[in-house]
Amino acid sequence: MRASAIVYTSATGFTAQYATLLHHQTGLPVCRLEDTGRLPRNTPVLYLGWLRAGRIMGLKKARAQLAVAGVCAVGLSPAADQEKLSRDNRLEQVPLFYLRGGYAPARVRGINKMMMAAMEKVLSGKSDPQSRSALDAVRQGADWVSQDQLEPVLDWLDG
Ligand SMILES: Cc1cc2nc3c(=O)[nH]c(=O)nc-3n(C[C@H](O)[C@H](O)[C@H](O)COP(=O)(O)O)c2cc1C
Repeated sequence: MRASAIVYTSATGFTAQYATLLHHQTGLPVCRLEDTGRLPRNTPVLYLGWLRAGRIMGLKKARAQLAVAGVCAVGLSPAADQEKLSRDNRLEQVPLFYLRGGYAPARVRGINKMMMAAMEKVLSGKSDPQSRSALDAVRQGADWVSQDQLEPVLDWLDG
């Protein structure tokens, strides 16, 4: 195993679902980033964080505290430009996986809700199919969490 624990940050639960699925499949311990106090500093971990405006939430803190060996970014887009995501989040050689999570409007709070209201406005002015489907998800909610998406992550963990 390339990691000895799974650590995550989740605001509305989709990243937590992926972390739990990985825990069940690998038997690796799982915990939220705020609860990693008992993990030794050099523990190699797989870190999962949700995406906010292209940033992987909690990643900086995770890298300051633990040996982040691999990263999963969870977002609502159908796919991500992995190279850009890696560059924008300064991952350098750390392997990155994109997982499509979901969107739960009722669970989005505070600053996140305000940011998304601005995004909704931008999306409602667009007519391309991708923006239309993103707008539907933002308004009605969506859940794309699937076991299949974890296959590359499980292969990497096993390597
Ligand atoms: C303020 C805000 C900004 C977001 N920015 C992005 C983004 O840049 N790219 C993306 O794919 N998803 C984006 N999302 C969608 C979330 O990443 C998505 O809902 C994710 O599944 C949330 O995970 P969680 O349930 O673990 O918090 C954004 C959501 C919010 C509320």
